[in-house]
Amino acid sequence: MIEIKHVTKEFIQGKQRVRALKDVTITLQNEMTAIIGTSGAGKSTLLHILMGIEPCEKGNVEIDNISIFDLTEKELSRFRNEYIGIVMQHYSLISDFSVLENVYLPLSFSKVRYSKKEKIAKAKKAIDLIGIDYLTKRCVEDLSGGEMQRVAIARAIVGSPHYIFADEPTGALDNENTEKILSVLQQINKTGVGVIVVTHDMDVANQCKRIIRLEDGAIVDDRLSQTL
Ligand SMILES: Nc1ncnc2c1ncn2[C@@H]1O[C@H](COP(=O)(O)OP(=O)(O)OP(=O)(O)O)[C@@H](O)[C@H]1O
Ligand SMILES: [Mg+2]
Repeated sequence: MIEIKHVTKEFIQGKQRVRALKDVTITLQNEMTAIIGTSGAGKSTLLHILMGIEPCEKGNVEIDNISIFDLTEKELSRFRNEYIGIVMQHYSLISDFSVLENVYLPLSFSKVRYSKKEKIAKAKKAIDLIGIDYLTKRCVEDLSGGEMQRVAIARAIVGSPHYIFADEPTGALDNENTEKILSVLQQINKTGVGVIVVTHDMDVANQCKRIIRLEDGAIVDDRLSQTL
């Protein structure tokens, strides 16, 4: 369970203060959740706070009863590695590494010391689950956007995280690839992994169980999808 309590975040832009999040309080179970809202609404900022890569002035975030702002930097990176799979909008893959190398990389930072053989086996399992085994040996820089996005998801799940946070995971994709990514995320969610998807696309949001709309840093709507 994720509990976000009274989170307030300000950025300073030149001489101006921008309140990116205003007293945001939400409890998320493991249901697949979409966060929607216009550009600048605070969606990415909220995800960054949940990932512990951005601090906030006020409020608290508890993930599985762990108060993430109480962790030291080292504890936080351990926590992130163990609990959270991150899918960024621009994939953040290492372009001259192969798909397999990209997917097994997070296991090198895990508190569990895996042998190279174990890492490869786990990475192959994640790659299989996402259905991209035919790409295993390919170099990432030669892949299409949809393929890279699926590699990014394989990398996010390789360490068996409790949650996946994905920022616009289908932003650059056509309908067919969007469907593929969504069905992968839904499948992972069914195994008990909490999934949060930030999206501009209402078709994507409607395939999530819960839809939370942020506007101007505040939650203005929170409902269950009507199409599911
Ligand atoms: N690092 C930063 N420094 C200063 N201001 C920032 C920073 N990051 C975000 N902001 C501001 O905070 C507000 C929320 O930004 P955020 O990136 O969370 O929006 P978003 O909902 O993800 O938008 P988009 O849909 O365009 O990705 C915006 O006004 C933005 O300009
Ligand atoms: Mg954003």
